Amino acid sequence: MATAGYDLVIVANRLPVDVSLDDNGEPTWTRSPGGLVTALEPVVQKSDGAWVGWGGSADLELEPFDADDMRLVPVALSEDDLTQYYEGFSNDTLWPLYHDVIQPPTFHRQWWDAYQRVNRRFADAAAAQAAPGATVWVHDYQLQLVPKYLREQRPDIRIGYFHHIPFPPLEIFVQLPWRKQVVEGLLGADLIGFQRGGDAANFVRAVRRLTEHTTRGQMVTLTDANGRVERHVRAAAFPISIDSHAFDTMARTPEVQQRAKEIRTELGDPKVLLLGVDRLDYTKGIRHRIKAYGELLEDGRLSVEDATLVQVASPSRENVGAYQQLRDDVEILVGRINGDYSEFGHPAIHYMHHSYPMEEMAALYLAADVMLVTALRDGMNLVAKEYIAARSDDRGALVLSEFTGAADELGGAAILVNPHDISGLKNAIMHAVNIDPREARKRMRRLRRRVLENDVANWSNTFLSVLTAVPVRSSHV
Ligand code: F6P
Repeated sequence: MATAGYDLVIVANRLPVDVSLDDNGEPTWTRSPGGLVTALEPVVQKSDGAWVGWGGSADLELEPFDADDMRLVPVALSEDDLTQYYEGFSNDTLWPLYHDVIQPPTFHRQWWDAYQRVNRRFADAAAAQAAPGATVWVHDYQLQLVPKYLREQRPDIRIGYFHHIPFPPLEIFVQLPWRKQVVEGLLGADLIGFQRGGDAANFVRAVRRLTEHTTRGQMVTLTDANGRVERHVRAAAFPISIDSHAFDTMARTPEVQQRAKEIRTELGDPKVLLLGVDRLDYTKGIRHRIKAYGELLEDGRLSVEDATLVQVASPSRENVGAYQQLRDDVEILVGRINGDYSEFGHPAIHYMHHSYPMEEMAALYLAADVMLVTALRDGMNLVAKEYIAARSDDRGALVLSEFTGAADELGGAAILVNPHDISGLKNAIMHAVNIDPREARKRMRRLRRRVLENDVANWSNTFLSVLTAVPVRSSHV
């Protein structure tokens, strides 16, 4: 049921804005800060585009509206949907399963029902917005069934899907009771993008093991009941990035440069400032990092007179039990280390449980001598890229977990670590602390070349041009 519609439709769990109602019942909105928004906003604005997503509060039934030159199409989610589809199936089943079962995933049939129901709602909303022959780009693990549901209604459109988080090895994925339905859901797309070649390969293995479709390299061939080729689906890596040039420009402004100096002064002018910046999530290796730092203080390899650690942990998914537990664990650990090692005027750890505006983050990155990205598993990790984009002075050192997507791209020049190996992590931190400035500069220049070359515009243009090359099928097929 094609309408006049839009030529490009983005479908993501969240809209690029958080919507609420003012006293007159009219929608007001604030731009949401995530990387996805920065990535896709210019693409939607430049094309005749619409964005389908949730507005950020429960039970918000709203008509489509325009904001920042984009057509925004809110999908309503009830309290129950949020509990079962968002907090439940998305963030307590899929999230831990797809991140190497760092936490045990919870499997509930009711949550699966809600996931299907909500995915159908997103697909219906997207189908109603797409012009004949349009391109629809679906995003992330919350919406893996949307490509299939959408294709059932609209065989005339091109469907792309990008998976922002890891796709797990087959041995882990097969634990999911609804594994076949999820694979078939994704195969509704023409092009399925992943962060790393390894994620794409894991997906293709799952297709081979769980379905009758044939695969060859990146291509999956779907056949009908008579064995006739219906269509091909390509699964490949498109590593996401940030708006590196904008970040670089912002970090060069006198205000940000000045603020970076102030931050160091406010922290008592330490010789070495170490920094961690994460959503408070158990995948980020925050406990491992703090433990390693605590042991370095205990061993006397670092002292609070010389060094301090700033840990920004922004609140996330606070209704999910594992996140509540993590907060307790991290805060107990920070409290213990501060109790054991802090001196007057020299706290061992500055722990902030809130978010900051981008300018303040850029100043913090500029102020930090050593950036610690110690995720146990991470689709990409854009914090690592932001740190690099901020360092136009070619200074600073990045300690980077080999279990991030970013390590595939930046591994040659970052100081790579296995965060489970606490002794190795301690040595890597000390390497970064004592790095020869010439070596640091050489590494940072290489990192910056990579991050400035592959920016987010490059990512979305590449994905969309590969998707656009897929021939459109006529609507009677
Ligand atoms: O990395 C996956 C992701 O869904 C991002 O798109 C998002 O910024 C982040 O996790 C936080 O997700 P949310 O607050 O929407 O659960």
